[in-house]
Amino acid sequence: MRLAIIGAGHVGLVTAAVFAELGHEVRVMDSVPERVSGDGAWFHEDGLDTLLERNKERLFYTTDPAEAIADAEVVFACVGTPPLGDGRPNLVYLEQVAWMVAEHANHDVLLVEKSTVPARTGERLQQILDYEADGSLYVSVASNPEFLREGTAVYDTLSPDRIVYGTRNTRDRDTLRRVYEPMLKLHDCPVIETDVASSEMIKHASNAFLATKISFINAVAAICEEVGADVNVVADGMGHDPRIGRQFLNAGIGYGGSCFPKDVDAFAHLAREVGQPFHILDETRDVNSRQWKRAVHKLKQELWHLEGKTITLLGFAFKPGTDDVRESPAAYIAQSLVDEGASVRVFDPIALDQIRNEVRQADPFFSLTEALDGADAAVVCTDWDVIAGLAPHDFIEWMRQPVVIDGRNVYSPDHMRRHGVRYHSFGR
Ligand code: UGA
Repeated sequence: MRLAIIGAGHVGLVTAAVFAELGHEVRVMDSVPERVSGDGAWFHEDGLDTLLERNKERLFYTTDPAEAIADAEVVFACVGTPPLGDGRPNLVYLEQVAWMVAEHANHDVLLVEKSTVPARTGERLQQILDYEADGSLYVSVASNPEFLREGTAVYDTLSPDRIVYGTRNTRDRDTLRRVYEPMLKLHDCPVIETDVASSEMIKHASNAFLATKISFINAVAAICEEVGADVNVVADGMGHDPRIGRQFLNAGIGYGGSCFPKDVDAFAHLAREVGQPFHILDETRDVNSRQWKRAVHKLKQELWHLEGKTITLLGFAFKPGTDDVRESPAAYIAQSLVDEGASVRVFDPIALDQIRNEVRQADPFFSLTEALDGADAAVVCTDWDVIAGLAPHDFIEWMRQPVVIDGRNVYSPDHMRRHGVRYHSFGR
């Protein structure tokens, strides 16, 4: 099939590569020329460059919407929906895609929302297409959310745990069946065929639930600290119940990234808008924003004053496997330490270029040894393997004071403390 992808970001480029791998011809459009240079991905994602290279004959890149959309049977909108600051996501870019489709489609076309959007966004897009598209064409809107995680995006997209699409009628459903038919031959998984609003809700509710699971265990961790329990053991014990599951019960400095913070807010906003306030989500967000502050508090307890101290953040990306630093708890910690007068160093294996954009006064370090040399404290912000592999003697040998605040619970408290590290983690 001939497909168009509008927006060559973390979702768009991965989706394009995977669709090309499935044998579809894919036109990728982005208004930023560097994102559609055809020279591989502009961000770090394991396996993506290989997949793009292997399928380059079926991938065509452009900055021109007309070129991308004109002959496409299905147009996937993968544009960003960044937060507006009041809880709502900015859907302007998505609206622009609908206008592009209305203007440039020259035969029947299905516009599919891949970007995460509040329920009923599809209705608004359909209105634009109904009013603006050439009356002789069939133009329709569907929802087909992605569930990929950054860092494992290629694997997640090629081997999904489910495929969800919501359509207005059987014609659109059959179109999406044809898109995914080759994937189901390679990897069998449940397919949820539903209406547009339910599909939109599945994505928002999934992300909100996962974020709430993280905040739940972080709230449990705070209590564990007071009663002398170990949150990792508690999570293991809970996780053996298949109704609960162990995943996403890792306590620490909380979730970041371009999805959970924004989606929790957007879902809570939608709930208020439709008169069904969802207070659990407000608490999810509040617990999460307390987590990075708890790391700073633990630092103060150990170091007394932060002014004049040298503090090393170990990891800056919002999670391992990506160079994405959007809404990373590390950025909040770094800014707060700078504000307190500390000198902040940051080590990250791949997200170094982004550090200065986020926190101007923080100094990026390429070498772990140099980042820790003479430091008064280290804060583990991202559970990269290279960071989790550090041993107590590394901290003792290199640092001025071996104070470690483990924001991802990657080390054993006993082992660290037995060897003289002044060690604090979350909920243990
Ligand atoms: C998330 C979802 O997991 C995907 O299913 C979804 O498709 C994606 O958002 C999206 O909407 O595009 P992602 O943001 O890439 O994926 O990353 P996650 O692996 O979900 O991690 C999110 C954050 O939660 C990270 O900062 C991570 O460190 C944190 N986290 C995760 C915890 O603090 N504890 C945990 O137990 C798990």
